Amino acid sequence: MDLTHRPRRLRQDRVRGLVSETSLEPSDLIAPVFVDATTDERRPIESMPGHERVPIAESVARVEDVLETGVEAVMLFGIPESKDPEGTRAWAEDGVVQEALRRITSETDAYVITDVCLCEYTDHGHCGPLEEELRSESGVAADGPACEPTMTVDNDATLAALEKIAASHARAGADMVAPSGMMDGMVGAIRSALDREGFANVPIMSYAAKYESAFYGPFRDAADGAPTFGNRRHYQMDPANAREAMREVRLDAEQGADVMMVKPALSYLDIISSVRREFDHPVAAYNVSGEYAMLHAAAEKGWLDLEAVATESLLSIKRAGADLILTYFAEDIAKQL
Ligand code: PBG
Repeated sequence: MDLTHRPRRLRQDRVRGLVSETSLEPSDLIAPVFVDATTDERRPIESMPGHERVPIAESVARVEDVLETGVEAVMLFGIPESKDPEGTRAWAEDGVVQEALRRITSETDAYVITDVCLCEYTDHGHCGPLEEELRSESGVAADGPACEPTMTVDNDATLAALEKIAASHARAGADMVAPSGMMDGMVGAIRSALDREGFANVPIMSYAAKYESAFYGPFRDAADGAPTFGNRRHYQMDPANAREAMREVRLDAEQGADVMMVKPALSYLDIISSVRREFDHPVAAYNVSGEYAMLHAAAEKGWLDLEAVATESLLSIKRAGADLILTYFAEDIAKQL
């Protein structure tokens, strides 16, 4: 055969590494860590095999385990000892994240990022204090009751709380803060609060395009942050929308976000790819709890090779354009690399 083009030439074992376009490094990975103020023992998270909630006293040991694998950064989530309608434990100087932060940053070299949100701290499980909203009910006859009151998160009251949380995390030693509540104006509010308090060098990684996704299920058990009523579609994005994600990222860029996150990752590779093309910020992707749980479940049944599918998933997220990946696979994959 007279074939000019034989792409298979470059797939031979000794050359394929030289021409590979994408690689995974432990330094690209961020490991989520759950610190739980309600317990003094480590508690496995059933729907996320290999992960556990650790008491504050074990937070340093937990982070040291992560560092040993070669992963250098962690994302800290807290489960507070008590909850209330406003989520006040989220900005307490002796709150769970604040206590863990002081220990971790003084005793380890980990780069510590904190999730800045209220859903684990409010007793209703929503990402901020609630207000009554008048919404027209669809299908209501013109002469019938036009509106029915429902509850939604009070955006602007939440901004004030997020400012207090971010500042308290920075005071306790956070290297970076990551607001995840999808409130309008959250990045700008946090940026000015940090600057005011003398933390101009603490970057913000915004959960810029965060979708209202069913893939967060296992996390909500892990962090005890499921909404007790309704859902998060008043503030998180509609999975049907792609252009809107560009608008969200643009707004966060204008407000000074340093890193743009897309979440979840695997069902949103098109969004990662568009953010990569349209913006010059570093792009992070959150390979969420459900994405982890489903691979584990299939592997447990013997239907998939866990290591292979996890590596392929993370590679696809990088190939789509992510620079950083938050993933529950971080430690396992880093160990193999
Ligand atoms: C909110 C938050 C959530 C996750 C990260 N930050 C949950 C939510 O929005 O319901 C989900 C992460 C995951 O599923 O792995 N603080």
